[in-house]
Amino acid sequence: MNEVTSVTEAQKIKPVPTLPDAQTVTEVQHYTDRLFSFKCTRPASLRFRSGEFLMIGLMGDNGKPLLRAYSIASPAWDEELEFYSIKVQDGPLTSKLQHIQPGDELIVRPKPVGTLVHDALLPGKRIWFFATGTGFAPFASLLREPQTYEDYDEVIITHTCREAGELTYGRDLIESIKNDELLHELMGPEFHEKIRYYPTTTREESAKMGRITDLMRSGEAFKDLGVEPLNPQSDRAMICGNLAFNLELKEMLEEYGLEEGANSDPKHYVVEKAFLD
Ligand SMILES: Cc1cc2nc3c(=O)[nH]c(=O)nc-3n(C[C@H](O)[C@H](O)[C@H](O)COP(=O)(O)OP(=O)(O)OC[C@H]3O[C@@H](n4cnc5c(N)ncnc54)[C@H](O)[C@@H]3O)c2cc1C
Ligand SMILES: NC(=O)c1ccc[n+]([C@@H]2O[C@H](COP(=O)([O-])OP(=O)(O)OC[C@H]3O[C@@H](n4cnc5c(N)ncnc54)[C@H](OP(=O)(O)O)[C@@H]3O)[C@@H](O)[C@H]2O)c1
Repeated sequence: MNEVTSVTEAQKIKPVPTLPDAQTVTEVQHYTDRLFSFKCTRPASLRFRSGEFLMIGLMGDNGKPLLRAYSIASPAWDEELEFYSIKVQDGPLTSKLQHIQPGDELIVRPKPVGTLVHDALLPGKRIWFFATGTGFAPFASLLREPQTYEDYDEVIITHTCREAGELTYGRDLIESIKNDELLHELMGPEFHEKIRYYPTTTREESAKMGRITDLMRSGEAFKDLGVEPLNPQSDRAMICGNLAFNLELKEMLEEYGLEEGANSDPKHYVVEKAFLD
């Protein structure tokens, strides 16, 4: 797939927004029949920390806004907002959202929140970002956040999906980070050498098969990456995936001795759901 449609600078200037908190879609890219990403203009009042989520949506048929939680996939410094989305065929929002085009309006409530933020972690040497599916989105933000590279010597991002095509957004993003002139200007020429990318699939053949949890339990993931299992002295972690994944990984991290942190009480790891069930 990988079709990109963008809006021109002239199209971005909309005289009168017709929706409350309306922003204009500037780019849409489809990856599979279940996944797409899009960009929109950023509300002037919006300040957020890389890794946070907010509510976005469209006007429902009943004339009321139909909103859902979405991780902001773009970094805090970016002038546009980016989102990475599922397409649920009978989903109230995404059955419509999947058809958005550049120039369309999108509701963006400018009230960001979330636990996947650097402020919720104590200083460490290595940070692990653990994602399944669209749980990659907050890490797409944090992988472009200068603080990630200021705070850590090593950044390991694991992404487990059912099928190989579901890895495309993450793989392309990491590739683009390596060649991004603005990021090089912001973070120095060698920052991307800190990134270790570990994609795995569970239901389609790829270079590395298996759930990350199983690959960690067997020791294979640590062997592949050439690192020791996590420990609370050096390792910090952020988790974003389905509920079962989050719970399983949380239990594993606790066994390694890591403790869960929060904005008000920074510790060794933090968790957020990629979707509600
Ligand atoms: C904190 C938080 C952050 C979120 N961030 C994102 C994000 O960045 N990108 C994103 O696509 N969704 C994200 N979601 C899910 C999002 O809020 C919606 O559920 C999703 O957009 C589907 O909306 P819907 O109205 O079409 O269907 P819903 O009625 O909301 O969902 C229908 C069903 O689809 C499945 N589903 C929903 N979302 C997903 C998903 N992301 N991946 C796989 N299956 C799913 C679930 O089984 C759910 O019961 C997030 C949810 C939470 C709680
Ligand atoms: N992806 C698809 O092609 C597809 C198609 C139609 C409908 N759906 C539906 O959409 C919903 C979400 O699907 P999704 O594929 O986006 O997300 P998902 O079911 O959360 O799976 C994403 C990845 O996480 C892995 N995983 C699940 N639980 C785990 C755990 N406890 N520990 C470690 N890894 C774990 C899965 O491995 P496993 O494969 O081993 O579970 C898969 O590789 C599901 O309800 C599904 O039925 C998905």
